[in-house]
Amino acid sequence: MQYPYQIPDFDSYKIAYKRSVEDPEGFWADIASHFFWRKTWDKVLDWDFETANTRWFDGGRLNITENCIDRHLTEHADQTAILWEPNNPAEATQRISYSDLHKRVMLFANVLKEKGIKKGGRVCIYMGMVPELAVAALACARIGAVHSVIFGGFSAQSIADRINDAGACAVITCDGAFRGNKHIPLKPVIDEALKSCSTVHSVIVYHRTGEAIEMQEKRDCWWHEEEQIQINAGNLHCEAEEMESEDPLFILYTSGSTGKPKGVVHSTAGYMVWANYTFVNVFQYKAGQVHFCTADIGWITGHSYILYGPLSAGATTLMFEGIPTWPDAGRFWQVAEKHRADILYTAPTAIRSLMGFGDDIPAQSNLSSLKVLGSVGEPINSEAWHWFYEKVGQKRAPLVDTWWQTETGGIMISNLAGVTPSKPTFATYPLPGVQPVLVDESGKTIEGNAVSGNLCIRFPWPGIIRTTYGDHERCRQTYFSAYPNLYFTGDGCLRDEEGMYRITGRVDDVLNVSGHRIGTAEVENAINMHPGVVESAVVGYKHDIKGQGIYAFVVCAGANAAEDAAVVGIKHTVDKAIGPIARPDKIQIVSGLPKTRSGKIMRRILRKIAEGDVSNLGDTTTLLDPAVVEEIKAGRI
Ligand code: PRX
Repeated sequence: MQYPYQIPDFDSYKIAYKRSVEDPEGFWADIASHFFWRKTWDKVLDWDFETANTRWFDGGRLNITENCIDRHLTEHADQTAILWEPNNPAEATQRISYSDLHKRVMLFANVLKEKGIKKGGRVCIYMGMVPELAVAALACARIGAVHSVIFGGFSAQSIADRINDAGACAVITCDGAFRGNKHIPLKPVIDEALKSCSTVHSVIVYHRTGEAIEMQEKRDCWWHEEEQIQINAGNLHCEAEEMESEDPLFILYTSGSTGKPKGVVHSTAGYMVWANYTFVNVFQYKAGQVHFCTADIGWITGHSYILYGPLSAGATTLMFEGIPTWPDAGRFWQVAEKHRADILYTAPTAIRSLMGFGDDIPAQSNLSSLKVLGSVGEPINSEAWHWFYEKVGQKRAPLVDTWWQTETGGIMISNLAGVTPSKPTFATYPLPGVQPVLVDESGKTIEGNAVSGNLCIRFPWPGIIRTTYGDHERCRQTYFSAYPNLYFTGDGCLRDEEGMYRITGRVDDVLNVSGHRIGTAEVENAINMHPGVVESAVVGYKHDIKGQGIYAFVVCAGANAAEDAAVVGIKHTVDKAIGPIARPDKIQIVSGLPKTRSGKIMRRILRKIAEGDVSNLGDTTTLLDPAVVEEIKAGRI
């Protein structure tokens, strides 16, 4: 069998799960033995949640690219590793075999070396969904540099914050990106960001859209020219750097409940084993299948289930540059049909938006190749679940509802396609190695079934977050201090009569907008940068397509007459500070915010007003100015 650790049936799942709890070290050592190690580990696991320290496979030495590429060359050199579908269907598809990928990664790794990028150096990648983005990330891993991919929708200011936090020495970008009928400038955004970054000495630009851009002498160079220099010099081969198991592989910034995004750091070996194990088991990948994950590599889903999970498993991963609704709302289904995709992994927000175009759209494509469907990023509502299962999967393809987080590195709670039972809107059972615990507000464990509480995990799994870059204490405080000896997820959760888990959403001040994680404090900070703003409070509300929408209550200095201009100005300020993904859907200008006498904003009241649930706002008599609540209620948008 291709993957000896692929779970074939429900009973085997139960056996694997039991062993992962009773003998975690033996369990993971067996799985890890199927990877390529330069030197095997001395100790499987060392951990201490009190100090937020976890080490997996300590003493082991490896390079993840040897596991994702080189080891497949003996038998699968000509198999397609990356199948790339461009934004414009008129442009040609690319098929990159494992052998091509090997050559391309080594060549570009030599470019990185030539630019003085070394093991441990941090490299920021800000590109569209072109195959070169995969090559860039893998080339960093090849030489032991730590990549930090930033989603193309973030603004110059957010990029600068991330580059400065990571102390990145280089940036890899594109002139621009194609998205639907739009050209998105990327290099000009980097130019703007780098005005406030002093650590970056090189910018490598991949030529994609052909739009005129400025190149700064000495600092900037073209991808293709640098590759040509290496080819001319005969530098085609690049030996993989030998890494320690716990050496960082990448940093990925994500939002929390404070105003500043944190750099989640993942390790080399543990992350690799986890991404691979979860990929193989949740999607039940079989040799030769085409795996289509629609995420952007700028998010963790793209890291784990476009790149590292599938490639480490020797799979064919389909990478799509475009958007679901261009040239028309059938594009996802057309791509799936064109490439005979076996697995389709997407987000509830995309499903909800495509549902709106009618059932006949997926019916126009031949979707008979689909064997597994997957959902990720936010709770999937019953209607979207059924539509996806019935109209796309034609009730044939099991649907996996995968719950996980940037910090967990890979899928934590999910049914295994066709192997363990599924239940609409439930992530169902934990993967082997994952020990979920529900706790109440006081930290008391809630035992038994048909209960709900805050979701924690009681034992480390290989893909667990290792630190938050440059600030380990922040990692400890955020994830390991709320409840002693538990990793706290920030999610609320219920466990039904059968012991199945259903994630109900965040219990902290983090929003999930179209599957994108956004901290309310971050949006407030951005709004407050607008010169006319005195203060603001941001809450989420239920949004039919995005899952959650952003509702901002804003106090402006004086000018109520200029409300419209203020709203436009505030949106623009947020675009500049974070990016359009954080732009509030609704902005209500108010004369004051409901506060307690000690000055704390009563978000509970604002949340209820934003949701339109104003009948029972609870006790407002303790407020500094109860009248303001009536005004806000009356002005609700
Ligand atoms: O609230 C949960 C929600 O997304 C959060 C993690 O966001 P992020 O780190 O950006 O990673 C998204 C991709 C893994 C979680 O805390 N979430 C993710 N998947 C699900 C989910 N909520 C419910 N069901 C899911 N399947």
